[in-house]
Amino acid sequence: MSTDSTEKTPRTAADGAAGTSERMKDLASRGDSRSQRPDNAAFREFIASGWDETVPDAERRESADFTPARRDALVSRLPAARLVLPAGVLKVRSNDTDYPFRPDTAFAYYSGLGTDEEPDSVLVVEPSAEDPSRAEATYFFRPRAGFDTSEFYADSRYGEMWVGRRPTVAEAAQRLGIEVRHIDELRDHLAKDVGAQLSLTVMPGVDQTVEAMVEEIRAQNGLPGGDEAEGEKSALKEAASEARLVKDAYEVRQMREAVAATLRGFEDVVRRLPEAVGHPRGERVIEGVFAATARADGNGVGYDTIAAAGDHACTLHWTRNNGAVRPDELVLIDAGVEIDSLYTADITRTLPVSGTFSPVQRKVYDAVLDAADAAFAVARPGLLFRDLHTAAMEVLAARLEEWGLLPGTAEESLAPEGQWHRRWMPHGTSHHLGMDVHDCAQARREMYLDAELVPGMVFTIEPGLYFKENDLLVPEELRGIGVRIEDDVLVTEDGVENLSAAAPRRAEDIEAWMASLQS
Ligand code: GLY
Ligand code: MN
Ligand code: MN
Repeated sequence: MSTDSTEKTPRTAADGAAGTSERMKDLASRGDSRSQRPDNAAFREFIASGWDETVPDAERRESADFTPARRDALVSRLPAARLVLPAGVLKVRSNDTDYPFRPDTAFAYYSGLGTDEEPDSVLVVEPSAEDPSRAEATYFFRPRAGFDTSEFYADSRYGEMWVGRRPTVAEAAQRLGIEVRHIDELRDHLAKDVGAQLSLTVMPGVDQTVEAMVEEIRAQNGLPGGDEAEGEKSALKEAASEARLVKDAYEVRQMREAVAATLRGFEDVVRRLPEAVGHPRGERVIEGVFAATARADGNGVGYDTIAAAGDHACTLHWTRNNGAVRPDELVLIDAGVEIDSLYTADITRTLPVSGTFSPVQRKVYDAVLDAADAAFAVARPGLLFRDLHTAAMEVLAARLEEWGLLPGTAEESLAPEGQWHRRWMPHGTSHHLGMDVHDCAQARREMYLDAELVPGMVFTIEPGLYFKENDLLVPEELRGIGVRIEDDVLVTEDGVENLSAAAPRRAEDIEAWMASLQS
């Protein structure tokens, strides 16, 4: 289906407020040459009539109980500033067809919106006039238009005939628990009282049009541009990233749900593994099976699934997934379901396609499992994040020394001037996890790698060993074997909880699990 559109309504948040823009012109021309829609008065009157106008009750979102504290923390960290968090814009795939929309993570975190809500909308957070330590938030979006507008039937971006029913201002306010206004009011709101006492800062890189609007208002009100403006934007980005290092109770619940949905996806993959073996692009079969669960039970996949059989497992981000799945090989599956709130799991299991590990596959598998267990054993509040990696590397270096693969001792390898073991384990052992698979990525080093673990942090433990087919430094029997085991971990008061523990990890448990699901 394609657009039969000569739409003339503004296309974006900023367009609504700023008038003509490149984006509006761009959209106005999408599909013009193909439009055969009638435009006579009788048609316009007829299509506007006879619709049930009942507005259903809107429910307050569970996230609305948690977003106020997040916003209070944000204005405490960045006082005396009006903070602008755009949802982001649709990205054209071709002509009038867009990629699926996923809102910016900071926007979702501070607004409580998820799924594909709501392209071109904007959340504004600022200190409350009565108590500047508290935040006031206003959400700007394009509410549904009436049945008597051409938007209703002719606007492929916003029209209900094209995209389904859209909320009213009152519905959005009920869901989010904050003030909601039409996007056309954004510019006036942003400009009000901006100056020496109140700065205006936008999350960079999300919506160029809103960013340009903010820059213009800053200039008109005597706020500096250049490095100072860039510095304010970076501070906002950093604050939004660091705020998510410790999850609140709602987020932990979301993580549990994402992990549970991901486990269902893995079970489906194991059940249907025989189908993958019989297909010339069996890796795609695996990808498709997981995607079906991700889409049915969640918003989609949290990142592109890695379905990597045999030597492909040694390509760390193998997402092409166009290879065969052979019975004598291992298959590495790294996948996560992103649920509707946008929280994602990130789990890897490496399975023997036949259902049973060969002795050499098992040798590699157990080394990786021991490395993961070593990281689990030290993980507790107070440990430095970076030391999870240290614990895992000590095990892998020792094992590689034992197998005669290192050009020196394990101790020499672990020293900064050695690091030979990293030839076969070139990635990090852990990363924070949440709404982004690599969550909190703009946090400062001292808040991330060099920080102590504290309760509420969620991260992965994911060591691996990868012996490429063309690696002449390892015995032939190891070549083409890649193993990663990845779990999602919550720091508790006195240790950690493995959120993904329900997916078997030990080799014998994997074999039993596969046998039970395939019987
Ligand atoms: N799935 C990407 C990663 O494990 O970091
Ligand atoms: Mn990961
Ligand atoms: Mn992963």
